[in-house]
Amino acid sequence: MSLLQVNDIHTYYGQSHVLHGMNLEVKPNEAVSLLGRNGAGKTTTIHSIMGLTPPREGDITFSGTAIQKKPPYQIFAHGIRIVPQGRRIIPTLSVEENMKLAAFQAVSKNQQEEIERVYEYFPILPERRRQKAGHLSGGERQMLAIARALLGKPQLILMDEPSEGLAPIIVREIAEIITKIKATGVSILLAEQNVKMALFASDRHYIIDQGTTKYTGSTQELETHPEILEEFLGISV
Ligand SMILES: Nc1ncnc2c1ncn2[C@@H]1O[C@H](COP(=O)(O)OP(=O)(O)OP(=O)(O)O)[C@@H](O)[C@H]1O
Ligand SMILES: [Mg+2]
Repeated sequence: MSLLQVNDIHTYYGQSHVLHGMNLEVKPNEAVSLLGRNGAGKTTTIHSIMGLTPPREGDITFSGTAIQKKPPYQIFAHGIRIVPQGRRIIPTLSVEENMKLAAFQAVSKNQQEEIERVYEYFPILPERRRQKAGHLSGGERQMLAIARALLGKPQLILMDEPSEGLAPIIVREIAEIITKIKATGVSILLAEQNVKMALFASDRHYIIDQGTTKYTGSTQELETHPEILEEFLGISV
């Protein structure tokens, strides 16, 4: 059974038709990547799932429930979280205040305990707990953005280009954190342009272009047939 099923969705910005029948699936305990060039429709797909740009046609099922017409707070309550493109942490608040704010939304009691549990994935964050989030490095901000999403033990995290703007060694660190999160039973949909990271962190991949799914396959298939990446993404790894 699938955890998330996106069936033939069409999403628009006003008159502009951006997703043209997007299909994808995430199974329980799976990390799946959404690969595509600038403007391919990765963010729009993630926002469609989260209810931020609801699809005009098609359906989205999560754990057997249709969610395509639900508002974002209800989708959040079903156990889906978004780590937005560009991190979007609150720079004027401290690390701990960012966590507290998210904990009040995600957890009904023992918020501090839950914050400390999540800090275990990211030892640097409790060391910086009193620092303003705006003073963190790019990698630390990304860690904070992911940490926030882990509060309340979600079932699925939608990560939008977490590697963007980070040095390769930090990207590697984030990829390792993603595999650790997956090992605890959380499923992940990872939108990426960094194919190396996607291959490292995900089990399966969708290559999208112009708002539709062009290819789907496993990490093993993409590693043995790198010409697929060349054909659909125009890159060689
Ligand atoms: N708010 C908006 N209003 C109108 N068009 C938009 C809006 N946001 C995105 N688009 C258009 O929708 C298409 C898909 O954009 P989207 O942001 O989903 O791509 P993406 O794959 O996330 O790209 P990137 O890698 O640059 O983040 C693009 O053609 C983009 O110009
Ligand atoms: Mg995007």
